[in-house]
Amino acid sequence: MTLRYDASGLSPTIIGDKMSVSGEQRDALRARLEEALGNVKAAHERGELGFIDCPDFDAQEVQAWAADKRAQGFTDQVVIGIGGSSLGARAVYESMAELPDGGLRTHFAENVDPVGVANLFDGLDFSKTLFVVITKSGSTVETMTKFWYAWDRAVDELGEDEASSHFVAITGPDNAGLRALADDKGFDTFPVPPNVGGRFSVLTAVGLVPLALAGYDIAALVDGAGRARDVSMTDSVDDNAILKAAADMFELYERGADQVVMMAYSDQLLAMADWFRQLWAESLGKAKNRQGEEVNVGMTPIKALGAIDQHSQAQLYMEGPNDKHVVFLEVESFDREVTVPEREGLPESLSHLAGKSLGEILNAELQGTRRALQEAGRPTTTWRFDAVAPGEIGAFIFAWEFITAITGELLDINAFDQPGVELGKKLAHGLLGRQGFEEWAEMARSDEAE
Ligand code: PA5
Repeated sequence: MTLRYDASGLSPTIIGDKMSVSGEQRDALRARLEEALGNVKAAHERGELGFIDCPDFDAQEVQAWAADKRAQGFTDQVVIGIGGSSLGARAVYESMAELPDGGLRTHFAENVDPVGVANLFDGLDFSKTLFVVITKSGSTVETMTKFWYAWDRAVDELGEDEASSHFVAITGPDNAGLRALADDKGFDTFPVPPNVGGRFSVLTAVGLVPLALAGYDIAALVDGAGRARDVSMTDSVDDNAILKAAADMFELYERGADQVVMMAYSDQLLAMADWFRQLWAESLGKAKNRQGEEVNVGMTPIKALGAIDQHSQAQLYMEGPNDKHVVFLEVESFDREVTVPEREGLPESLSHLAGKSLGEILNAELQGTRRALQEAGRPTTTWRFDAVAPGEIGAFIFAWEFITAITGELLDINAFDQPGVELGKKLAHGLLGRQGFEEWAEMARSDEAE
């Protein structure tokens, strides 16, 4: 299994002065990179950055539990969660070319859109459906309201005793919301480690339990993450491709690339860009630095899918403002192939396509787009997957979590809090009438139109 980082699209000869990084500039950054790595390691040693321990997760125990659950006749699972409690599992699930034998069909109930929820639940056979409820805080409105709806319908359909064996709770160790309810009702439960933030938690029970139920090879996933961790922790900057990637992200930001387009040339990897968007946006979009000074930093992450978005976005990326860094996700070997038939009758102008595989065509499209961007002086980097397989996916996840932590250090901000999100949660609780949240309700209503 290999996942490679290719920064050749940043070569000064290709993209000119504005975006390229000279050797001297990189040398100047070296000391800051070493300091950033030292700070991340020290925080980990203090027990603060639990995501670094995630590759040590005991996959076997969860796999055995999931096999037992699958043997009980469940065919489907509904994963109820939002943000970091859903996006990672969904990204990995969607990276599968097909559902493995015996894996549970998985539905992600993320939003509180009434039509989406009603349609999903009306299509379920409750007797064969497992509900996996995931919320670290145990109190997120979107998750807890849908959980309660699921519980109500399951009790109506199955009776309370049977219904409780259809629920699994993945939540913080001692909250008064989901944890208390799960203990009371006797659900199977898994903990979310307190020192792992939501968007960094895909390699904990948060992602691994639903993925094991879907039949995904979670042992290979954490193994791949472990290999990326070995690279990440390498002190020599020259031998650490993950530090180099972080340095590139940061340098390009300093040169004006404050938008990062993650462009997957694989349908299977598109949801990875969704996961990345949250990780990058929520971790690095911050008003204040560590000294409490107003800095308003962050890079806007954008997702795109090749080749589709070549016919939608690429014109802007090539000729619009030079403020984007395009991060390509390239796959060398696809899980399935389709070949353009060699049957006679294709017009002369298209005959060169006969006999070509669609994978070959997709990668030629990528190569062409990358080259065209470079011609226009636009910076690109590429993450190359040998295949979309658990080892590569695990490595990709860990690499980006680590890049995020290092970039947070370089920006001198706390990448692990989310004060903006927390404020939104309090305002929503206030508006919906939660006791003790009256001041938030008042704040939320203060700018309502007369
Ligand atoms: O990264 C984060 O901390 C957030 O995006 C959370 O994952 C999200 O808000 C959901 O929170 P919870 O797991 O408490 O329901």
